[in-house]
Amino acid sequence: MINWAAVPKTELHLHIEGAAPPDFIRMLAAEKNVDLSKIFNDDGSYVWKDFAEFLQTYEAACSVLQTPDDFRRLTEAVLDVSAAHGVIYTEMFLSPDFCGGGDLEAWKDYLAAMTVGAENGKAKHGIETRFISTCIRHFGPEKAVQTAKITALTAGGLLTGYGMGGEERHLHAADFSKSFEIAAEAGLGLTSHAGEICGAESVRETLDSLNVTRIGHGVRAIEDADLIARLVEEQIVLEVCPGSNIALNVYPTWGDHPIEKLRKAGVPVTVSTDDPPYFYTDMTREYRKLHETFGWGLADFQAINRTAMKAAFCDDKTRQRLMAKFE
Ligand code: ADE
Ligand code: ZN
Repeated sequence: MINWAAVPKTELHLHIEGAAPPDFIRMLAAEKNVDLSKIFNDDGSYVWKDFAEFLQTYEAACSVLQTPDDFRRLTEAVLDVSAAHGVIYTEMFLSPDFCGGGDLEAWKDYLAAMTVGAENGKAKHGIETRFISTCIRHFGPEKAVQTAKITALTAGGLLTGYGMGGEERHLHAADFSKSFEIAAEAGLGLTSHAGEICGAESVRETLDSLNVTRIGHGVRAIEDADLIARLVEEQIVLEVCPGSNIALNVYPTWGDHPIEKLRKAGVPVTVSTDDPPYFYTDMTREYRKLHETFGWGLADFQAINRTAMKAAFCDDKTRQRLMAKFE
């Protein structure tokens, strides 16, 4: 029997707010006298029934994350969980919209606080963290440009990437080109959610207009053979979050999930949790389920982690040091 929690792991796709344990959000709500009872089920889990409602609950939970120190504490709480599941390298999506509403000076304070949280996590667990600043698609292109500008002005240190999350059905990827250009000019690694809620065309539009090297999810590329060939040819890395896709009913069961078909076709796939408490998952469960469903063994996970480290938005020294853990 393999102890899956102890297997070393990398995670490239984890939303800091989406990783907030429900108890942590309830604690902040109590401290700030905010009534958030409507976003919790009786068993304490987050309430949602589809993707749109998930985004609403997510934003309601964010309403009690009000200060830089709230985000420092959140960073440490999230890293405690990641480390307990064997994660040694993690990339967290941060959203300047939830950290000072797009104001540069406020964002600097939040970023500094989350950097302290990541340094404390490293001292406590040895876990390495990088940050991907993320615009929110349904907040629109203007806010995205502002997010990209303040990200570009604060790039460096642990802040090494730029991305986009949010409602994929809102507008087109090309509407966000300007913000990705600003981030690219600042030397940031680029990724965007696509092919999660929408189909292959959304992935194609994203590749055509945002210059990304990675796609968040991207799994619905499986619906288009030409697109699969392009992902292989261009070696676009998919940040696949199988448990998230199943919880959101993109696929009905683990056996229906296309990760194995994509991998066999030569698409570089990696494994992450997305928003673990919302989707009742963690990295240990993702590995165990992939083992049970597709027979993946330790050598398969080593290869997946090498793919992730190759695509990681980190410096080469860190990449080499961590890559060695998967050889
Ligand atoms: N923000 C947080 N989780 C997300 C997801 N799964 N898709 C799009 N945006 C998100
Ligand atoms: Zn995501």
